[in-house]
Amino acid sequence: MKKNIAVLRGDGVGKEVSKGAIEVLKTIGQQFGHEFHFQYGLIGGEAIDTEGTPLPQETVDVCKQSDAVLLGAVGGPKWDQNPAYLRPEKGLLQIRKALNLFANIRPVTTYNALTDISPLKQDIIEGVDFVIVRELTGGLYFGKPSGRSVDENGEETVVDTLQYKRSEMERIIYKAFEMAQTRRKKVTSVDKANVLESSRMWREVAEGISKEFPEVELEHMLVDNAAMQLIRYPKQFDVVVTENMFGDILSDEASMLTGSMGMLPSASLSSDGPSLYEPIHGSAPDIAGKNIANPIATILSAAMMLRLSFGMEKEAKAIERAVDQVISAGHRTADIQRAGKSPVQTTEIIDQIKAALIEDGAIS
Ligand code: NAD
Ligand code: IPM
Ligand code: MN
Repeated sequence: MKKNIAVLRGDGVGKEVSKGAIEVLKTIGQQFGHEFHFQYGLIGGEAIDTEGTPLPQETVDVCKQSDAVLLGAVGGPKWDQNPAYLRPEKGLLQIRKALNLFANIRPVTTYNALTDISPLKQDIIEGVDFVIVRELTGGLYFGKPSGRSVDENGEETVVDTLQYKRSEMERIIYKAFEMAQTRRKKVTSVDKANVLESSRMWREVAEGISKEFPEVELEHMLVDNAAMQLIRYPKQFDVVVTENMFGDILSDEASMLTGSMGMLPSASLSSDGPSLYEPIHGSAPDIAGKNIANPIATILSAAMMLRLSFGMEKEAKAIERAVDQVISAGHRTADIQRAGKSPVQTTEIIDQIKAALIEDGAIS
């Protein structure tokens, strides 16, 4: 198969980890006879520095013409004092909106080889397998009005608006039920319905959609309780669906079940065009440029691309097997290495995953 992949490497470790995904995709292409064509676009801080905007129109065009988009990460201290419209993160929000990436799918699975890396006890994390379905183009991130003003007494005032249309809630909750139908048939809808009107509407919508899926159990959970339950007994979850910001926070928390932010991939699915694949982590300025970042979250995001955008299940599984094999053999970057063992560098682990893929191909 022939596929065009847009690559937005972004800033900080975004560049280092996206290199891993590209190399792994090239290896898959050679092994399975696919032609992956990569086209690069600027986003984030680098785009601000060179083009004066966090998301140049050319980047949007490259993405729209592609079959799928791979993204590293954006942001960094250099741009932290910039006004809102000139922040790297704005570029990410704008590309999500431009491509209608309403459904951010963040699977959380644990690896037997990493049970001693997670700060949680082995019996709590063993066998954890759930997916966070995060709404990605609404809520506090996009609601209007947003900004600062001065009130009638001359005091500085600020507002961010949590805004949703019913149809935006419907499509994401529907997606969660569809996914649960193919899994363990349980949806946990997370909200703050004891306080927020938006959450009360969210609950209503979830109840309505659940009638179309009689085999799927629906439970509602308040977000503060959900944050606690994730740590207390994560095996209770199958599909967790929630609004944009709750999903953002809960997924970083959930990464600690696996053991590191460097392990969690994601797919941002579009309603009408190419989808985008990105790790859940950021540009990690504290470790950027040192060749120590874990590229696995991005490599697993590439596996999600193969599965969900290209229907290449065998190829996706091959990547997941290679990753499992490499970490099981003890080759790990610093974030997931055992105490007393020396970590491998980003470029080394990429080479090892490629080698495992080639070896695997030779056997099958
Ligand atoms: P972060 O996710 O970049 O880093 C949080 C912690 O996790 C850091 O200690 C970092 O070293 C570690 N970490 C993250 N990715 C890792 C990896 N692959 N391997 C090993 N360790 C890893 O979050 P932050 O520090 O809060 O934010 C830094 C910048 O990234 C900010 O500018 C923020 O806006 C941006 N950000 C971007 C995205 C994105 O592009 N999708 C996501 C989150 C944060
Ligand atoms: C993520 C990030 C982004 C978000 C930021 C950088 C805008 O934290 O992808 O999880 O909050 O969605
Ligand atoms: Mn986040």
